[in-house]
Amino acid sequence: MKILDLYTKMKSDLNQIELELERSISIDHAVLNEASLHLAKAGGKRLRPVFVLLAGKFGQYDLDVLQKVAVPLEMIHMSSLVHDDVIDDADTRRGQVTVNSKWDNRIAMYTGDYIFGKALTIAAELDNPVIHQYLSKAMVQMSIGEMEQIRDFFNIEQNVRHYLLRIRRKTALLIAISCLLGAVAANADEKTARQLYRYGYNVGMAFQIRDDLLDLLGTEKQIGKPPGSDIRQGNITLPVIFALEDERVQEALLEQIRVIRDENGAVDTKPAIELIRSSTGIDKADRLADRFIEKALQAIRELPAIPAKKHLVDIAHFVNKRTY
Ligand code: IPE
Ligand code: IPE
Ligand code: MG
Ligand code: MG
Repeated sequence: MKILDLYTKMKSDLNQIELELERSISIDHAVLNEASLHLAKAGGKRLRPVFVLLAGKFGQYDLDVLQKVAVPLEMIHMSSLVHDDVIDDADTRRGQVTVNSKWDNRIAMYTGDYIFGKALTIAAELDNPVIHQYLSKAMVQMSIGEMEQIRDFFNIEQNVRHYLLRIRRKTALLIAISCLLGAVAANADEKTARQLYRYGYNVGMAFQIRDDLLDLLGTEKQIGKPPGSDIRQGNITLPVIFALEDERVQEALLEQIRVIRDENGAVDTKPAIELIRSSTGIDKADRLADRFIEKALQAIRELPAIPAKKHLVDIAHFVNKRTY
């Protein structure tokens, strides 16, 4: 099944999540209201809620309960994006202007904090402490991951292990936890919840590798922001780490990265991107993403053959081939 068909199938439940998301974000404060709804209305794949709902199918599926984890997870994700766009000085996200660019950095920081805070309000309606522990773990790890990314800007000494640890924190854990908490909120058994967590973790790793590849290979229309943003800001992603191991481009690429750093990103990044594209880095990163997808599929092999399992398999394939 195509991913869009899956969304159509889940439409009525996702609509409820969407309404709940907007309701949860709305506030009687003009700027906070406008800034946070601006991002919510810009769209997005709502992947984390989709994972919650599908994982919930492996237990007692109750949308009213599941939305209390799905909505906070999407909100945590959204607030991290608002903050991430400040750090990245990004002008566009989801094909729209960012909060920092439409308003300013100060407003974006508090909009992010506000959405974070509201996420906690919704989650607090559930009295299972395990859920709160995992949500806070995701937030803590994400902050560490983003901090490490800042620390490693333009660090050409980093290796694949550093990269994987970083994306595990900044991206994969939140997706893993979306799968886990969907199962926990639906009272699925512990083994099922663990398998779903492993699935989410591996899909999340592939998801970020694909995101980093898209930044080098995608068009602005596809990715909703100008390509090459990562290298411009000094974010050395997996394809770049691999490209730097490719002797044919190594020296020229190092030089380009130096120029970007010395000019604070105010240069043409095309030469760097061309070098990376022509290196073995793209293919190697692609293959590593494939391996994470294989592991994700492996993790849910023993789950019962209900439709949700097939949907998880489809999403894993979508993540690996996605162009948006
Ligand atoms: C973007 O996440 C940030 C990453 C973790 C790579 P998504 O690609 O899920 O963003 P939206 O929600 O669809 O905009
Ligand atoms: C994802 O990383 C951001 C978070 C996990 C907070 P990116 O920096 O790659 O996300 P995009 O590319 O800006 O969407
Ligand atoms: Mg970013
Ligand atoms: Mg990115």
